[in-house]
Amino acid sequence: MIGKRILITGVTGRLGSRLAALLENGSNTVMGFDRSALDITDWATVRQVIANAHPDIVINAAAMTDVDGCARDPALAHRINGLGAGNVAAAAYAARALIVHISTNEVFDGSAARPYREYDAPCPINPYGESKWAGEQAVIRVNPRHVIVRTAWLFAHGGRNFVHAILGAARAGKPLRVVCDEVANPTYTYDLADAIITLAQAERPGIYHLVNEGTATRSAFARRILDRSGYADTPITPILRAQWPRPSCPPAHAALDNTAAALLGIRLRPWHAALDSFLEREGLLA
Ligand SMILES: NC(=O)c1ccc[n+]([C@@H]2O[C@H](COP(=O)([O-])OP(=O)(O)OC[C@H]3O[C@@H](n4cnc5c(N)ncnc54)[C@H](OP(=O)(O)O)[C@@H]3O)[C@@H](O)[C@H]2O)c1
Repeated sequence: MIGKRILITGVTGRLGSRLAALLENGSNTVMGFDRSALDITDWATVRQVIANAHPDIVINAAAMTDVDGCARDPALAHRINGLGAGNVAAAAYAARALIVHISTNEVFDGSAARPYREYDAPCPINPYGESKWAGEQAVIRVNPRHVIVRTAWLFAHGGRNFVHAILGAARAGKPLRVVCDEVANPTYTYDLADAIITLAQAERPGIYHLVNEGTATRSAFARRILDRSGYADTPITPILRAQWPRPSCPPAHAALDNTAAALLGIRLRPWHAALDSFLEREGLLA
């Protein structure tokens, strides 16, 4: 992407920070806002900041992503992920900007026998998924120039991270009990950010599923992390979601299928290869 004015919300987050770093490499004007500078629940500020920025593209990477926190406080989840997303999209519309909004595989109930396609009907089963689904609908309602990107199971450099959590437990010699009845697509923020930028340039409004190719259970993902990092001998005890009670119950089979972006030639590599690249950059690949 060249010569565009791009505004990013949630710029300190896992995905927002990668998007900003990538876009800043070009001849774009990147305006990144963290929560203290742009709280997406504050309509007056959102409208003013976005109007003053004159963006061509607004990327809403801000969200309440603590799924258990969303279950504990569904009203706050709805304010940020539902109403907040609508605020950003409405302000982008007023500024005649494309809105790129990031959503989740958890808008689906996880009962399908195959990965979900973009045209499958959402039916969230927890407050995080409900709030994100409300956000998608708000974005679609207020800004016809929308690109909604659903993704899943992000792994990123820095911040909270499943990969580091698994390796941390292995290093500490802690017993590893990992859920084996939850399936999705492990996805590397570097690959996702590349794909989002390509998609934004295509200017084709709609809903897109962008994930690294292939699916995994949580326990298979953990197994692969250990095997590739020199911990092949560390055992994993597979458990069911019911044996790991949490405030938020994740959907069982909420893997995504990239159907729509693939038609535009946008595909992400298999997650095994993406994980190797991640581990290599972290200096962890055995
Ligand atoms: N992580 C995953 O596995 C995953 C999976 C599927 C979909 N997604 C979606 O992908 C997107 C990016 O996720 P991520 O992993 O990059 O999230 P993240 O690391 O948690 O970053 C979210 C960012 O949003 C900010 N934020 C929270 N509330 C805000 C508010 N009211 N106003 C402005 N900013 C606010 C956070 O700021 P503070 O740090 O100050 O709170 C943080 O910088 C989200 O839409 C998420 O739903 C993520």
